[in-house]
Amino acid sequence: MSSSADTLKAAAQAVRENAYAPYSKFKVGAAVRSASGVIYAGCNVENAAYPEGTCAEAGAIAAMVAAGETELVEAFVIADCPAPVPPCGGCRQKLAEFAKGDAKITLATMDGVTSETTVGDLLPGSFDADFLDQD
Ligand code: THU
Repeated sequence: MSSSADTLKAAAQAVRENAYAPYSKFKVGAAVRSASGVIYAGCNVENAAYPEGTCAEAGAIAAMVAAGETELVEAFVIADCPAPVPPCGGCRQKLAEFAKGDAKITLATMDGVTSETTVGDLLPGSFDADFLDQD
């Protein structure tokens, strides 16, 4: 793994420690690298009203947008599970909103198993702004 990939992984691993997951006990960390090269991290934040919980990817993307950036070029997602954690459908759509199809997404377990994919492979045929009437 290159040092830039290591940095992204380290950010995802570190933020996962702060995940608030008292209900599922499933802590997730995500880190995205923006087009400017800055890394933004997020963890899942659950709620007693279950549907109000938010995913790690959503947190990382929100941090990026809050900082004034709207393109991510790479992401790393990590959780303690037997196989690299697959982003949920909603997070695939959120990633697709802010990334080109070839943006690299690395999914990982805590045991060091990783799987590399792209935003386009995670969500083929995605609905995007091109489908909206924007005159
Ligand atoms: N979760 C994420 O944060 N990201 C994913 O990619 C998969 C699922 C969270 C949502 C919830 O807090 C917990 O994992 C169990 O579903």
